[in-house]
Amino acid sequence: MAIVTGGGSGIGSAIAQRLQRAGARVVIADIHDHEAQAASWGCEFRRTDCAQPDEVTALCEAAVERFGKLDILVNNAGIAQGALLANSEPARSERFWRLHILGVQTGIREAAKRMTRGGAIVNISSITAVRGFVQWGEYAATKAGIISLTQTAAVEYGPAGIRVNCVAPGIIDTPLAMNEAPDMVARNANVFTLLGRIGRPEELAAVVHFMVSDDASYVTGQTLLVDGGWSAGPSIKGIELALSTTD
Ligand SMILES: NC(=O)c1ccc[n+]([C@@H]2O[C@H](COP(=O)([O-])OP(=O)(O)OC[C@H]3O[C@@H](n4cnc5c(N)ncnc54)[C@H](O)[C@@H]3O)[C@@H](O)[C@H]2O)c1
Repeated sequence: MAIVTGGGSGIGSAIAQRLQRAGARVVIADIHDHEAQAASWGCEFRRTDCAQPDEVTALCEAAVERFGKLDILVNNAGIAQGALLANSEPARSERFWRLHILGVQTGIREAAKRMTRGGAIVNISSITAVRGFVQWGEYAATKAGIISLTQTAAVEYGPAGIRVNCVAPGIIDTPLAMNEAPDMVARNANVFTLLGRIGRPEELAAVVHFMVSDDASYVTGQTLLVDGGWSAGPSIKGIELALSTTD
């Protein structure tokens, strides 16, 4: 049985549906009510604020009570808001920290202690964790922390046969990325990714499915960037654009 946090929208909903279609019993945990949607996908739903450790514990407890075991956790719930570091605010930084660090850390701990050998955890980070992006400092710092948590968890839970991996998306077509300035986001994807386009939630779901499957039975502690190649190097289009705007 699998828990997908933030599974009511975007990448999480694609992951939940993919795992459900692959035969897993899936509980979607989300701060917003997606009960009817989850039911229509053949999944269960539990309203959970993953930034609250007690709620994450209760989620894992309830899932095991309902299904007798927990095999997969996808720590996907996330929030985004850009601001220059010059305008960073402790309250906003803390919101990122509570969900992306405390939430993920608690999810790992509470899920792993209920898993047996073969359990798999995937954490969702971001391309912003591995390169600098203007206005994404507060968010990115917590997404980098998710990579670090993944590595430590893989070390500590490896002997118990539990794998912990991470997927770091680039720009994916979801409400989180497209709510503000969708034209600019699409243009960035077109210019800066090596594939020249935005990614689809289903393309993330396919990678997460691989990570939790037995096909990845010897993979742990790893972060896979699913970013259309953005992190690999500058695109030809990006170079041409830069040269055309330089004297
Ligand atoms: N879309 C992108 O371009 C992109 C890029 C890099 C990383 N990511 C990461 O992918 C993950 C999924 O993002 P998405 O693009 O699908 O966004 P989305 O906004 O479509 O979905 C996020 C989901 O998380 C839920 N959520 C928010 N706060 C929560 C909380 N406290 N507890 C439980 N659920 C909560 C939301 O209700 C929503 O259903 C996030 O961790 C995000 O940081 C997305």
